[in-house]
Amino acid sequence: NKLDMELEAIEKGGYDHFMLKEINEQPRSIADCMRGRLDARSGRLILGGLQDYMNKFQNADRIIITACGTSWHAGLVAEYLFEEFARVPVEVEYASEFRYRNPVISSKDFVIAISQSGETADTLAAIELAKEKGATIFGVCNVVGSSIARATHAGSYTHAGPEIGVASTKAFTAQISVLSMMALMLGYQRGTLSESKYMTLLSELEAIPAKVEKALKLNKKVEEIAAQYKDARNFLYLGRGYNFPVALEGALKLKEISYIHAEGYPAAEMKHGPIALIDEEMPVVFIATKDSSYDKVVSNIQEVKARKGIIIAVVTEGDETVKKMADHVIEIPPAHEAFVPLISVVPLQQLSYHIAVMRGCNVDQPRNLAKSVTVE
Ligand code: G6P
Repeated sequence: NKLDMELEAIEKGGYDHFMLKEINEQPRSIADCMRGRLDARSGRLILGGLQDYMNKFQNADRIIITACGTSWHAGLVAEYLFEEFARVPVEVEYASEFRYRNPVISSKDFVIAISQSGETADTLAAIELAKEKGATIFGVCNVVGSSIARATHAGSYTHAGPEIGVASTKAFTAQISVLSMMALMLGYQRGTLSESKYMTLLSELEAIPAKVEKALKLNKKVEEIAAQYKDARNFLYLGRGYNFPVALEGALKLKEISYIHAEGYPAAEMKHGPIALIDEEMPVVFIATKDSSYDKVVSNIQEVKARKGIIIAVVTEGDETVKKMADHVIEIPPAHEAFVPLISVVPLQQLSYHIAVMRGCNVDQPRNLAKSVTVE
């Protein structure tokens, strides 16, 4: 009815869709997530939920991350973060597979369950299983008081605020923010991060919201690119290192809301299959920021170019090399490579949003999908 529609319009805060509102909220939601927890100047980093479990976390033989969907992608980013900064072995598991395969779990394992809703049935079941085997379970949830938040031993909320759009956006970046803070704490406590490196990383992380704000300004450019490729039947998303999970997430966003088939791949793995798909109709989205895998990604771009693929590249501001090769470049602000996913995912969220709108899709409530899947 009319009242409901007016209420909804107010909730959307002037945006056409919740998804767009939530994409644009990210500078604030990331800052909210870090507020009161991280202060780079004083070197303060506190996660209340972790305090009583820091010992377990620090002495864990292994970290197991379990989640579904977008939250699983945040887990993949965390794998790189924990291994790089804290030198702890990490496994990232789809909750639905983990719960059914009699996994090896012990009381020396520290399990992190990531869930926006805190209600995903498979994730909840994976937690119960790990708990029975004596592991410590830590939740990274957005919804306060949710089932997963209650089932875990401890946790840190993402504080992203309510996420209404079915396709997850601001919850993803808030999850990565919490996991980044956890990785820095762990690295510092375990002595794998020097004091000075730790201090630098704290400032780098604190600088992210302003950079996301800047990245959001690319919206018009991304919209123009969307207009050109909205009728494509397939998309390929490629990235390496920290940007590999971003490629997966970019592809997931596109298929969820525009119903275009999209695949995300580690760029180097392209030659073992997806390269066969490349022709002059195929848009290939590269996340090719200036990081330790940049030169390798540039070679992968060349391989696509040689096969006449269409190249859309997310690059670091001022990049000249990729600009010469790509059909389109989207330039994002530079950041420490470990935190780049928080920025590089933004134009991919915008790209899927605009394509879905142009195709007349129901962006906030895509067909066949639910915001939280409470059945297995
Ligand atoms: C559903 C949603 C996804 C979400 C996934 C995991 O499939 O449509 O957007 O990533 O569930 O949800 P969770 O609430 O556990 O993060």
